[in-house]
Amino acid sequence: MYTKDSRIKTLFDAPLGKDILDLILYMSGKKPFLFKNPFIGNIPLKKLPSLTKNLISDDFLDTLITMLNREPKKHVCDVRHETKAWWKSAVFYQIYPRSFMDSNNDGIGDLQGIIQKLGYLKDLGVDALWLSPVYDSPNDDNGYDIRDYEKIMEEFGTMDDFDELLEKSHKLGMKLIMDLVINHTSDEHIWFQKALKDKNSKYHNYYFFKKGKDGTPPNNWTSVFKGSAWNYYEHLDEFALHVFSKKQMDLNWENEQLRHDLYCMINRWLEKGVDGFRLDVINLISKTKGLPDGSKALEGLVGAIGYEHMFYGPKLHEYLKEMRKETFDKYNAFTVGEGAGIGLEASKFITCEKRKELDQIFNFDQLNNPGKNRYDSYKYDLRILKQLMLKWQTQFNTCCWPTIVFENHDNPRFLSRITKNEAHRNYAAKLIIMLMLTLKGTPYFYQGQEIGMIDSIFSKPSDLRDVEAINMYNMYLEQGMSQQEAMDKVSFGTRDHARIPMQWEDSAYGGFSKKQPWIDCSRDYMEYNVKSQLTDSNSILNFMKNLIALRKENEALVYGSFINAANDDDTFCYYRKIENQLFYIELNLIDTNKKRRIDVNNKKYNKILSNYTDNDELLRPFEANIYMIGDNK
Ligand code: NOJ
Repeated sequence: MYTKDSRIKTLFDAPLGKDILDLILYMSGKKPFLFKNPFIGNIPLKKLPSLTKNLISDDFLDTLITMLNREPKKHVCDVRHETKAWWKSAVFYQIYPRSFMDSNNDGIGDLQGIIQKLGYLKDLGVDALWLSPVYDSPNDDNGYDIRDYEKIMEEFGTMDDFDELLEKSHKLGMKLIMDLVINHTSDEHIWFQKALKDKNSKYHNYYFFKKGKDGTPPNNWTSVFKGSAWNYYEHLDEFALHVFSKKQMDLNWENEQLRHDLYCMINRWLEKGVDGFRLDVINLISKTKGLPDGSKALEGLVGAIGYEHMFYGPKLHEYLKEMRKETFDKYNAFTVGEGAGIGLEASKFITCEKRKELDQIFNFDQLNNPGKNRYDSYKYDLRILKQLMLKWQTQFNTCCWPTIVFENHDNPRFLSRITKNEAHRNYAAKLIIMLMLTLKGTPYFYQGQEIGMIDSIFSKPSDLRDVEAINMYNMYLEQGMSQQEAMDKVSFGTRDHARIPMQWEDSAYGGFSKKQPWIDCSRDYMEYNVKSQLTDSNSILNFMKNLIALRKENEALVYGSFINAANDDDTFCYYRKIENQLFYIELNLIDTNKKRRIDVNNKKYNKILSNYTDNDELLRPFEANIYMIGDNK
């Protein structure tokens, strides 16, 4: 049992202890050896508040100790063999339907638009599609606020369109997974509406309704999208919890009837034949009983107060197991959960095959350098990414399978983070693609990554569409920033960067629509678009296509072991090996013009693909090469 008298160093003995220390160090940008220092290691936990200048406050320490005592002291499942599964070898492609392809020219992407592009995706080598939410929604958070789980959003089409999409994807041999948003619903969902209408309705207990404290909210939690996490409903004299926008009301998973209703809904989609789900913020579904106040000190690190009471809640494992048994397992369906803040060790607990919770999890530490968040303006250092990747490649158990992801609809374009040098854009885009397709794990590409799409320009508040960015802008103004300062800050990190229309060709609106889209296109489509890249053998798109084909033909690139090949900081060199297949990959992580020498002798290897068209003794900026060793027969 951990107590406040346990020594700091003992935290390293428990999987979750390691995670939490890692997370705190990573988010605060401090060096990992700090807690390993013998002097610090011998200090009792109760000194952590003063040692961390109250970053780990007394309250947080209590939560932490409870969390540690709840989890097993070691991983019981250390399976040594690897099972095969379609989703381990699959190349995933995320579609943000609103911005992918508009078939009826109303300025909003739709399901028929996706259907038009299925052949393109198949040809690229995509095996599985993940659709961001397409359910009926008032669109406060672009579909992540679901009004009706059983209906398709009108702008996107009808249930018949959805059935056609599913059938055609399957005909082409592609799987289709849906986004499943079950931590919250829209406040316009019938359950919430009924809960509001009648305190005695069974639906009232589907959500977190609570009395305030002398007119103030029940606790100090803040929303991830800023402001209090509570809405006040005067006619009930009660507050209701929303961890995201004011229209995204958190569901009370303690309620068995709610869970049952959710499982029935999930099963109806599985009955239709969908292949699985990406589970939105699934790590948040279990909240600490009584919803106690959160640590204020953590707000700066995680962006919201109260997060420690939900990001790895007391009943998370129980709910995941139950849900899997009641739904996914009955249909052999696949699941990948979104788990911001979930570390490597907790990810093992959640995705270890034998524990039967989720198949995979997204962790997002790689999206920003330590101590930075996406609203900070900085240049991303790929050398730090390498260290993180090494950790996951070597320490994630064989009974778990990593996700490899750098972009999604919630983040600015990764490419824009790693270089602003237009001359290096193609090289950098290809380097990331090579990393994604040669590391061990399932690659999840985001639409537009295959053509090297970059951030757009948002110069005034009316350019913004993202509820989070709009709230941030207003918050910055309230904090005293000028309009320009607030806009500069928001425009760097807004999720809108990822949501601009897909660039299909160089005609108006990038061929996405014939009408002004719901969000402005970037002029960038004149040069970077699918049509021109399809016919250019040296394009980013064809590079990706060739590499996907290579991966499909060679098991070593999927199931092969990962072997680090060199320890130079500026380069990332590794082997992938299975039986008699061996590949060597070398990546120069630096974009300055100083070339890099590597200590691996690659002379005898057979170079198969490179992002440079000629050879050089040394690695040039962002150079990425893959070699086959021997004849691999
Ligand atoms: C994570 C989703 O990816 C994001 O887009 C959404 O705003 C939040 N969850 C809330 O659903």
